[in-house]
Amino acid sequence: DWTPDSFIETTVAALHEKLGDDKVVLGLSGGVDSSVAAVLLHHAIGKNLHCIFVDNGLLRKDEFEQVLDSYKHMGLNIKGIDAKQRFYDALAGLTDPEKKRKAIGRVFIEVFDDAAHEVQDVKWLGQGTIYPDVIESVSVKGPSATIKSHHNVGGLPDFMKLKVVEPLNTLFKDEVRKVGKALGIDPNILGRHPFPGPGLAIRILGDITPEKVAILQEADAIYINNLRAAGVYDKVWQAGAIFLPVQSVGVMGDERTYENVICLRAVESVDGMTADWCHLPYDLLAKISNEIINNVKGINRVVYDISSKPPATIEWE
Ligand code: XMP
Repeated sequence: DWTPDSFIETTVAALHEKLGDDKVVLGLSGGVDSSVAAVLLHHAIGKNLHCIFVDNGLLRKDEFEQVLDSYKHMGLNIKGIDAKQRFYDALAGLTDPEKKRKAIGRVFIEVFDDAAHEVQDVKWLGQGTIYPDVIESVSVKGPSATIKSHHNVGGLPDFMKLKVVEPLNTLFKDEVRKVGKALGIDPNILGRHPFPGPGLAIRILGDITPEKVAILQEADAIYINNLRAAGVYDKVWQAGAIFLPVQSVGVMGDERTYENVICLRAVESVDGMTADWCHLPYDLLAKISNEIINNVKGINRVVYDISSKPPATIEWE
């Protein structure tokens, strides 16, 4: 019978056997799959696993520092790379969602390739691919599509010529979580909502500026912290705030304001293919709205998205 412990035992032994003294590079995202894959590989080959975690400037507030910290606590051999400015430069002036995704994918590949070159004699690329990714190749909008389009244009980056090792490619998501739990991985990482690779860039409609990112990070942090404090976070499949580049009139004291709108999104789903909007309690929404409007400069209005998928998607871009 399949148990997390038996899976860990056989997988670590098989990885050890397969990889020997070879070095592996692996990109960590802060998500469940790459984290579990990294810890399994770490058990098998220790410091020969070289993890790379890129700050693209599009993560949630403080997420890069917090996640990097918990990876270090797990003993992983990890390098954090601040590439924020490279991503902002590439995104400057882009408004089309697919162009933004392409730019982010391209810069990620460049940054990752540079970092991978610093690992001498690396033989393998570790990936957190899980079984549904293998059978469906679902991510039409995901990293693999970006990599393919890059590949068609300019030839393969060097790290993609490495042999690939995917310790999770027989597992479903719930099994990955069980394995992660048995490995003692931080529950904050294991229970994390799905978060898109392009990050906040597809939650800011239109063009991206560091100022808009900072506003959205503040609003999103208030939203997510309130969901956690109310015990609602784990019941929601995915939640996040969206920055709408629309200005509306408000009033603050005696002053008329003319500022942007934050939209809150929370959905229930099984696999992200279909989704229903969550009926969050009104008093919770009221508290979040007040806190955002009172604390986030540049925002004077908060709205809640009551659209289900289909026809609306979960992300706004
Ligand atoms: P949609 O918006 O298509 O989202 O209903 C379904 C799920 O996919 C995530 N998503 C992405 N993930 N790169 C990713 O890695 C992307 O470009 C991307 N776009 C959407 C979304 O967050 C949701 O979980």
